[in-house]
Amino acid sequence: MTVIVGITGGIAAYKAVGVVREFVKQGHDVHVVPTEGALRFVGVPTLEALSRNAVTTSVFDDVAEVRHVSLGRRADLVVVAPATADALARMTAGLAGDLLGTTLLATEAPVVVAPAMHPQMWEHPATRANVATLRDRGVRFIGPVVGALTGDDAGIGRMAEPEDIVAGALAVLDHPADAGRPASADPSLQAAPTRPAGEIRPAGETDVAGTGARGEQGDLAGVRVVVSAGGTREPFDPVRFVGNRSSGRQGLAIAADAARRGATVTVVAANVEAALTTGLDATVVPVGSALELAEAVHAAAVDADVVVMTAAVADYRPAEVRTEKLKKDLQGDTMTLELVRNPDVLADLVAARRTGQIVVGFAAETEPDRAARIELGRAKIARKPADLLVVNHVGWSSGFEREENAIEVLVPGGEVVRETSGSKADVATAILDLVATALT
Ligand code: CTP
Repeated sequence: MTVIVGITGGIAAYKAVGVVREFVKQGHDVHVVPTEGALRFVGVPTLEALSRNAVTTSVFDDVAEVRHVSLGRRADLVVVAPATADALARMTAGLAGDLLGTTLLATEAPVVVAPAMHPQMWEHPATRANVATLRDRGVRFIGPVVGALTGDDAGIGRMAEPEDIVAGALAVLDHPADAGRPASADPSLQAAPTRPAGEIRPAGETDVAGTGARGEQGDLAGVRVVVSAGGTREPFDPVRFVGNRSSGRQGLAIAADAARRGATVTVVAANVEAALTTGLDATVVPVGSALELAEAVHAAAVDADVVVMTAAVADYRPAEVRTEKLKKDLQGDTMTLELVRNPDVLADLVAARRTGQIVVGFAAETEPDRAARIELGRAKIARKPADLLVVNHVGWSSGFEREENAIEVLVPGGEVVRETSGSKADVATAILDLVATALT
């Protein structure tokens, strides 16, 4: 396979060497296209030696070969790592002043980018708008992740690790039909049924009570399902985090049942034990923090028919992530950790939902009284009008880290359309029955 690795001018360019090396190691024909800026961080001889191909930045080299279009045309995959804020802005604008710019315009291959920049740059409205536009055009994002950055700060903006970039980029090729083109141009999405919110209704008392699960094999054939699972960890130094007890079992049960029913499944797995995903027929995207989960879910949701937000996402993260371990002798007998709000992924998905896309939210409630719990669920679905809201009862000894679960499912308007308890697999089947109904 012919892989173009574009490198742009950020300090993480030195790590792009690892990306080139990994693709070559896996037997691919790698052509490196650095920008002028990238060559301030890593040299041509290194890139030529590792890629075993000539390296140039300019559209005026090898003019006879029409290199500025030939590279892009030959590519099976284009990976830009690192992608700086400037590089994302150029891609969005379609600027073609160098070989990377022309290659990106000339290619029809899937384009995968691994951003790297400081958190303020990543969160700037200009960058957010560029990322949204590029995602809408079919560009896939891997990372950035939370971690140490250049200088003495840390946070979201660190480039994903080279092996994760290569694995993520190769996983994109598993869905070639979806890659490299705007979701809005996908005919299957345009054909998706327009379904007014709240159309799902209980089939009768038996259904509400939780019997009569269908779980028909093949009823989700061709449906693209994204499931977030597990619990996020919000770091405040290299070794510590604020976390929660979600194991990921309920999300993985939904993913497994969706795959069994014929769906193409992506799991965004927040700190899920690797053993739990072994053998799962799904693309697994591991993430750590809420900001990482948000990036991965929004990236996967672009061409998803169904998004199930099972993950326990931290509502807050530490305001500051230290590059070194926090020392207790600097804190005294009490310690205060300042937290700031995380984006609400579910609310953002609901707001950006395409016609026909089904979004399922979860509400973990400790309220033991059923009626009071349903009231909490009603308030939540009124705030975030997902197509379905699955209320589950959690507590010190229920919900988390267990094989069993008990749920009530609400639709906008607050009606309970399903109530069931049992194994997490049974609960998954019940939820996907409602999703399958909503899709038809
Ligand atoms: N969720 C999210 N992004 C967040 C927080 C939660 O996408 N930052 C999603 C979860 O995946 C879940 C649902 O929102 O699907 C939970 O809703 P939320 O209102 O956050 O529930 P709680 O955290 O239980 O809220 P509260 O503390 O208000 O009860």
